[in-house]
Amino acid sequence: MRILATYNIKGGVGKTATAVNLSYLAARDGFRVLLWDLDPQGAASFLFRVKPRVKGGGKGLIQGRRPLDGAIKGTDFDNLDLLPADFTYRNLDLLLDAAKKPERRLASLLAPLKSEYDAVILDCPPSISLLSESVLHAADLLLVPLIPTTLSVRTLDQLTEFVGEFNGHRPDVLAFFSMVDRRKRLHTQITRDLPTQRPDFATAVIPALSVIEQMSVQRAPVAAFAPRSVAAREYEALWQEARKRAGLRIRPTAA
Ligand SMILES: Nc1ncnc2c1ncn2[C@@H]1O[C@H](COP(=O)(O)OP(=O)(O)OP(=O)(O)O)[C@@H](O)[C@H]1O
Ligand SMILES: [Mg+2]
Repeated sequence: MRILATYNIKGGVGKTATAVNLSYLAARDGFRVLLWDLDPQGAASFLFRVKPRVKGGGKGLIQGRRPLDGAIKGTDFDNLDLLPADFTYRNLDLLLDAAKKPERRLASLLAPLKSEYDAVILDCPPSISLLSESVLHAADLLLVPLIPTTLSVRTLDQLTEFVGEFNGHRPDVLAFFSMVDRRKRLHTQITRDLPTQRPDFATAVIPALSVIEQMSVQRAPVAAFAPRSVAAREYEALWQEARKRAGLRIRPTAA
C-alpha cells in the first residue's frame, strides 16, 4: 500500500481537484484506492456524492475506538472507496495533540488497511498543523500543487527542507503547476523552465480551465465526465508521473 497526499499550506490551489481526479484514475487503472477526505469542509466527499459524516466523529477515529474501515463508504466508481470528511475534523489537531506520538498517528491508523488497498490518497486542509505533520509522516509521496510564482516555489523549498529533517521515513515530493494561465507571461515562463531544471517538478501542468470548475456542478472527476478534455489528459499525465514516483506498478490483469 502506497500513501499519497495532496498538500500545500495554501488554500484554493487545486489540492482537492487533484486528489479527486488522481483517485479516480488510479482506480480506473485497476488499483484498489481509498481517498480520505481530511478537510472538515468536505469538498472531496461532496464531489464523490458521499455525505460528509463519520459515526463517532474524528474523535472515535483518532483515538482508535472506531476502526477506519467502519467509516469507509463506496463511491459510484469501481475500486474506489472514500473515507468521508466530518465537521468534527476541525478538532483533529486537539485530538492528535492528546494522542501518543501524534506525528505517527495517521500512519498507524492506516496500517491495518495495508492488504485492502493499493493506494491511499489523503486530501488535506490548507494549513501547517499537527494534522498536516502527521500526513507528511504517513505519506510516501507528497503531491504539491503550486500556482506559478516565485513565492510559491519558495514555499515548496521550505516544505522540502522540513520533511528532509524527519528521522526515519521521509516522503518523496512531487510538485506540479496548477491553475496555470497561459495568458500570463510569468506563468508561461516559470512552467516552461522549472520542470526541466528540477527533478521534484512534474512535467505535467494543470491549466486553469472552466471544465475543472464544472466538477462541483457535475459532482464527478473531470476525467469521468469529460474524458477527452485537455484537463483529463493533463490529470492523466500527472497521475502516470505520480504513479511511477510512488512505485505503483500496473498489473497486467488491470483494464
Ligand atoms: N485547474 C483548475 N482550473 C480552474 N479551476 C480550478 C482548477 N483547479 C481547481 N479549480 C477550482 O478552484 C477551486 C479550488 O480548488 P480546490 O478545491 O481543488 O483547491 P484546494 O487547494 O483543495 O482548496 P482548499 O485549500 O480550500 O481545500 C474549486 O472551485 C475548483 O473547482
Ligand atoms: Mg481542498
